[in-house]
Amino acid sequence: MRIATSTLLAPLFLCLTLADTTQATSSNDLTVEVGHHVIFSYPGLEPPTHLFDLIKQGKVGGIILFGENVDSNLSNVIENFQNAYQQSPTYAGFPLLITTDQEGGQIRRLPGGPEQSAKQVGQSTDPKGAATKAGQDAAVTLKEYKMNANLAPVLDVYREADDFTDQYGRSFSNSSAVVSECGLAFITAQQKAGVLATAKHFPGLGAALKDSNTDEEPVTIDLTLRQLHTVDLVPYKDAIAAGLDMVMTSWAIYPALDDKYPSGLSKKWVQGELRGRLGFEGVTITDAIEAGALKSFGDDATRGLLAAQAGMDILLASGRNVSQGEAIVNGLVAALQNGNLSKDLFSEATDRILGMRKRIQG
Ligand SMILES: *[C@@H]1O[C@H](CO)[C@@H](O)[C@H](O)[C@H]1NC(C)=O
Ligand SMILES: *[C@@H]1O[C@H](CO)[C@@H](O)[C@H](O)[C@H]1NC(C)=O
Ligand SMILES: *[C@@H]1O[C@H](CO)[C@@H](O)[C@H](O)[C@H]1NC(C)=O
Ligand SMILES: *[C@@H]1O[C@H](CO)[C@@H](O)[C@H](O)[C@H]1NC(C)=O
Repeated sequence: MRIATSTLLAPLFLCLTLADTTQATSSNDLTVEVGHHVIFSYPGLEPPTHLFDLIKQGKVGGIILFGENVDSNLSNVIENFQNAYQQSPTYAGFPLLITTDQEGGQIRRLPGGPEQSAKQVGQSTDPKGAATKAGQDAAVTLKEYKMNANLAPVLDVYREADDFTDQYGRSFSNSSAVVSECGLAFITAQQKAGVLATAKHFPGLGAALKDSNTDEEPVTIDLTLRQLHTVDLVPYKDAIAAGLDMVMTSWAIYPALDDKYPSGLSKKWVQGELRGRLGFEGVTITDAIEAGALKSFGDDATRGLLAAQAGMDILLASGRNVSQGEAIVNGLVAALQNGNLSKDLFSEATDRILGMRKRIQG
């Protein structure tokens, strides 16, 4: 799989090395390579024509859907995205990533299962069986809408009743062992059914207080590294060993390891802990780039660059704003050209993304 992907990318790499002499071509090819790294979003039921144009130009890696995008026509819209992508010069036989948050219970963007919240799954008489069913149900629902990647399950280990993660029943349990067992069962069942799984929010939002929402404001989680290792990161070990497709990082700051950067902008978390200590070789994806937690880290393009510099593979432009995705793509292209982003690090990420997309069942 990796070998075929490298073959596909060979022309792009060639252009990178010829950057000085073939500036115009190189810039265009760079834009296309960068496009694989950015997931776009749009407002309302009718996608803007401009989004279809960008897809045809190969500048879009995938699309995230929200409630406001969902009606009974959505699977036709998604089919049109894929048809547009097939006209792109870089189309290589595998689809755009089409994703949403279908966790279960109250957190479902699409009508359909999983009916139970993660909490109900964890509290059931047979948590493993219930989590398997939840993973299968999520896959069935996503496939009905022609989607191929779910931003679930949540592996956060909640601490207090009604805290940030528990208030909507998004955490399987306050016990790492139960979260591990359920997370693993959900991931395995969903991936077996042909839908990519994403474990979130690394290294864990389980200790976040009720009103600590990274979508709105900066959040600091003051756990010791030992607490993080022995509670929050336990479910990731098992999921990674089982071949988990994607990990979504959180935007909280964990001063025990990095007191400056939120996890998804932190080399220490992304490269040190996730890739280094935990040995994750799959694809990393950010949480929403427009999140309030990042307000001191510049505009969308700057945040995207900081995340890519930290080693994040996919950047989530989920502000229902096509320009946001474009701004991130343009920022990364400029950074690759001016040497502010390592081409080697970035190409490894491209390889991982395309390798994963190649596995998607049609
Ligand atoms: C369904 O979506 C397609 C693709 O965007 C669009 O062309 C068509 O007009 C939509 N139909 C309805 C009934 O909304
Ligand atoms: C988990 O929550 C239950 C109550 O729902 C409590 O009895 C138990 O002590 C908690 N466990 C931990 C590890 O906090
Ligand atoms: C859309 O994204 C662009 C680029 O980041 C930004 O300048 C603009 O303010 C955003 N628009 C909205 C409505 O958020
Ligand atoms: C490189 O990126 C950093 C942020 O990571 C920024 O401060 C700096 O201005 C950038 N340099 C160039 C030449 O764009």
